Amino acid sequence: MQLIDGKKIASEIKSEIALEVEQLKQQGKKAPHLAAVLVGHDGASETYVAGKVRACEEVGFKSTLIRYEEDVDEATLLNTVSDLNNNDDIDGFIVQLPLPRHISEAKIIEAIDPRKDVDGFHPVNIGRLVLGMPAFVSATPAGIMELLRRYKIETSGKNCVVVGRSNIVGKPISILLSQKAYPGDATVTLCHSRTKNLGEVLRSADIIVAALGKPEFVRADMVKEGAVVIDVGITRVKSDQTKSGWKLLGDVKFDEVAPKCSFITPVPGGVGLMTIVSLLRNTLKASRKEIYT
Ligand code: GUN
Repeated sequence: MQLIDGKKIASEIKSEIALEVEQLKQQGKKAPHLAAVLVGHDGASETYVAGKVRACEEVGFKSTLIRYEEDVDEATLLNTVSDLNNNDDIDGFIVQLPLPRHISEAKIIEAIDPRKDVDGFHPVNIGRLVLGMPAFVSATPAGIMELLRRYKIETSGKNCVVVGRSNIVGKPISILLSQKAYPGDATVTLCHSRTKNLGEVLRSADIIVAALGKPEFVRADMVKEGAVVIDVGITRVKSDQTKSGWKLLGDVKFDEVAPKCSFITPVPGGVGLMTIVSLLRNTLKASRKEIYT
């Protein structure tokens, strides 16, 4: 069993990005600039956005954080999106989700200029991804693809079972793994809460992507000997074994599944750390106008 070390790969990619930023600066070009819009004070969103801002500093990007209180209205937020779209100094930006219930996430996302949509959430980027055109790919699926690439994991012709059909992970990773490319060329089955005989389907998988958000759902008896297991889950649960009083659990019961795997991602230290570097990479691409030339 080989552990897929997301921490090591994320750190390598950050060094690569930092080097590229250095080169841009030496050529007299400006550093890539990412903006983040954060509404309210949701604990998880605060942590994610702080991590994104810190990562920008680490690689030499400029970053701007725009904050609003929970009661901000949709029109104000749409105006901010429009300002960011028109601000030439900003290469890419994200609006952290979830948004308060009185604001339509779909409306906000659609208002973002696809050329600055470094989260890859805009319908144009998702459409381009489906068509195999250059697109901003959302951070978690892009991070998974990078882990498969860097560990040289064979995907061609493999049975790949994705559990979870979210717009952010399940749907895009199933498209990416079935595309005619490497990583890709897999036979993909997308499972969800209505799937019958999920255990049986999972046991047929050479590659499992668990992204359903149910802690320790995937057990050893659902996994084939030698499978590759990618665990996207991160659920925070109370724990009396840690100083903080919390621990993170993946969607896979790691201790019992790991011995059966050829490769597995741990939680924490697996896919989660790759998401921020994928966002950095997208921002670098946006600043270089690599996707929309
Ligand atoms: N909320 C949870 N994950 C994400 C993400 O990747 N981007 C944004 N904008 N919001 C999120």
